Amino acid sequence: MPHPTILVLNGPNLNLLGSREPGVYGARTLADVERLCRDACEAHGCVLDFRQSNHEGVLIDAIHEAGAAQAAGTLAGAVINAGAYTHTSLALHDAIKGAQLRAVELHISNVHAREAFRHHSHISPVAAGVIAGFGVAGYTLAITGLALLFLAA
Ligand code: DQA
Repeated sequence: MPHPTILVLNGPNLNLLGSREPGVYGARTLADVERLCRDACEAHGCVLDFRQSNHEGVLIDAIHEAGAAQAAGTLAGAVINAGAYTHTSLALHDAIKGAQLRAVELHISNVHAREAFRHHSHISPVAAGVIAGFGVAGYTLAITGLALLFLAA
């Protein structure tokens, strides 16, 4: 498969990047992040599918779709920043597990250095890897990691 897709899936409130708590999340917008992800995907010979939703069910549908595409050999996997759903959503955990999706969990901030309620993740047990605390550069790292995992599979 010469040009597999990489899904970058962003959850609630990430549409506010750039204006939302810039001291925590930085000044770059979601459109900036999309450009950065596109460059990283191109560098690895992959095609980017970049999405954001504030709705849990929409994220779940995207994960099911991605699992099917991965099984069909057209998708390398997904980078998922589930936002606060990371800490609350059993449904996202079940979706990743059920769809057998190769997922890298991504956080812009170092969630472990923040409030205690951000220390637990429902995504981590079903993720292939986790990246947190590198700012939006973490998206590039996560895409690189996912591409390496895909090549090694
Ligand atoms: C986040 C961290 C979460 O705790 C928070 O709810 C977010 C963003 C991050 O990228 O650092 O919305 O996932």
